[in-house]
Amino acid sequence: MSKTDKHKDFLDLAQWSRTDLESLLTLAAKLKAEPEKFSQVLAGKSLAMIFKKSSTRTRVSFEVGMFQLGGQAVFMSSVHTQVGRGEPLKDTARVLSRYVDGIMIRTFDHAEVETLARYATVPVINGLTDFLHPCQVLTDIFTIKERLGSDLAGLKVAYIGDGNNMANSWINAALRFGLDLKIACPAGYEPDAALLEQANLQSDRGKVAVVLDPLVAAQGAAVLNTDVWASMGQEDEVRERRQAFAGYQINDKLLQVAKDPLVLHCLPAHRGEEITASVFERYQDLIFTQAENRLHVQKALLVTLLNREVEKVGGEMS
Ligand code: CP
Ligand code: NVA
Repeated sequence: MSKTDKHKDFLDLAQWSRTDLESLLTLAAKLKAEPEKFSQVLAGKSLAMIFKKSSTRTRVSFEVGMFQLGGQAVFMSSVHTQVGRGEPLKDTARVLSRYVDGIMIRTFDHAEVETLARYATVPVINGLTDFLHPCQVLTDIFTIKERLGSDLAGLKVAYIGDGNNMANSWINAALRFGLDLKIACPAGYEPDAALLEQANLQSDRGKVAVVLDPLVAAQGAAVLNTDVWASMGQEDEVRERRQAFAGYQINDKLLQVAKDPLVLHCLPAHRGEEITASVFERYQDLIFTQAENRLHVQKALLVTLLNREVEKVGGEMS
């Protein structure tokens, strides 16, 4: 088996063109509208899912997604496999490539995902690293398009909080979809410096600014977006982060300066920290639709990566 597809892996939104990401989103909309038409598209195919971190949404949506497409998923917790006992990922990649048609991995170090992709001969999907969370942010784009229509050029998006994997993937999305992204974060918690530099160099494709004041970021925003103050792996920093991030919260004050915004949260949410309980509950329908959309967007990804007949299927649908 060799990776012959044009898009062999999905590690990073930046590796995919705008056109190809748009195709994924179009397919996701078809999958959401008429899931039964795709029920056998991945018959006989398997996806291995390696988890070195916890997950609810990513695990269940990929597993159920494979089932709904006629295939199956194999859950591999690092606790119960040789991955957790130190078997090199480059060996795991080559072994799994002999059994399955794709590999999804959630881990800490982004370099591990790149190693896995380098050695695997089947497509590899990034299910979150410390650096990026592309499946989530692509889903967020899908969710925004569902509510606001397809042209996102110049759309004002505010991201309030930690310059983490979500913020980094939002920078990639801003460049791909032409967004006007403002990230508000405390000093010392900015997104990845190299990504910001690239964004500066490509300011014709999308605008990205980092500001200190959440009110400045939220001013006129059509989308308010946030994530936890302490991500998985930062449990020891919870107390100092609570101090550093105090005020970096989606609350009524921010809603007032925004422009009748959509409020997004990738979940899990910490009410009273990055979002107030009342704002969360007011936007719960949108936030849980966002969570649901993980399923549809990832099914589009799986169909595209694991099934070379995708164009035929897409053609029948239109
Ligand atoms: N948003 C998200 O990726 O959720 P999980 O950590 O539950 O997978
Ligand atoms: N930034 C969070 C996202 C969880 C979906 C984390 O990495 O824990």
